[in-house]
Amino acid sequence: MLILAIETSCDETAAAVLRDKKILSNVVSSQIKIHAKYGGVVPEAAARAHTEVIMPVIEKALSFARVKKEQIDLLSVTFGPGLITSLMIGVDTAKTLAFVMNKPLLAVNHLEGHIYANFALPVSNLQFPLLCLIVSGGHTELVLMPKHLKYKVIGETRDDAAGEAFDKVAKLLNLGYPGGPIISRLADLGNSKAFAFPRPMIQSLDFDFSFSGLKTDVLRLVRRRHLETSRRQKKDIFKKQELQDIAASFQAAVVDVLVFKTAEAAKKFKVKTVAISGGVAANRCLRQKIQKMIKKELPSARLLLPPPNLCSDNAAMIGLCAFYKARAGIKTAWDKIRVEENARLD
Ligand code: KG4
Ligand code: ZN
Repeated sequence: MLILAIETSCDETAAAVLRDKKILSNVVSSQIKIHAKYGGVVPEAAARAHTEVIMPVIEKALSFARVKKEQIDLLSVTFGPGLITSLMIGVDTAKTLAFVMNKPLLAVNHLEGHIYANFALPVSNLQFPLLCLIVSGGHTELVLMPKHLKYKVIGETRDDAAGEAFDKVAKLLNLGYPGGPIISRLADLGNSKAFAFPRPMIQSLDFDFSFSGLKTDVLRLVRRRHLETSRRQKKDIFKKQELQDIAASFQAAVVDVLVFKTAEAAKKFKVKTVAISGGVAANRCLRQKIQKMIKKELPSARLLLPPPNLCSDNAAMIGLCAFYKARAGIKTAWDKIRVEENARLD
């Protein structure tokens, strides 16, 4: 079965071609340059860019895969959650193609796509229940899966998502956008104990998260330093080493909470498999600490880590999920597919 997948939920225009689970091509056109000067995604600019590049991106995905569009058996597209104007471009393009090509179209939730990036590599004898920590720019959720394609959200963020916190802290420190990869690179060179940031909600008895307070702690640090610095030096208020230490200490605080809550949930629900997904799942510190935690506290559980290039938004993960849906016999009439900017998993 040849699958064409399309993803436009935020600021990446992406298309991929898969033969069943095998990724033949995975094209991502990033809008980072457009949004970097604003320090965040501007929805109108995102939608305009999607419109401009979506057809060339699809053509590239087909040509890299050496597949003609007539050979495609199934189309799939992200229907939500995300920016409504961005989602609409992917969904309308997919519907039009499905109509013209007279092929079925499957709608995929962006978050289930992120989860299914974990199945890009062969996973034999996958055992449920599976617990997935989704950490992206828009979401931080702990999701319990009793079986394929069934989800129960057991915890989520009450304010900022983990990736959003990385982005906002990077903005506060004038480091650029998107903040996650920049902070993570700086953190590799810093001392994670230099600043004693709190571990928000680590003592709460639920599986929810909160990261906006951490961002405020960094803001306080910036304000205090501003007051202490003479006007002439205001541009670079922190020395390089200090920035590296703030990055490392902030990252350690976020990762500690994520790993601790994942461990608690995995134990409570006696899961057999633990997975992580979303842009922040590319973070090296998170990957290392979760591996260490599983080894120490849940030695009988299996840990899945998505390939780093499939952590941030891409269409291959949407195609992977579509493959599992098609295999389960799921069908959707293409004219029934609606954009849902606040789509949930459960
Ligand atoms: O999943 P994703 O590509 O888009 C959403 O669905 O939101 O995630 C993007 C988020 C951004 O906030 C970005 O800063 C963060 O993932 N991110 C990282 C890293 N790479 C991307 N955060 C921490 N460490 C990284 N290495
Ligand atoms: Zn995403």
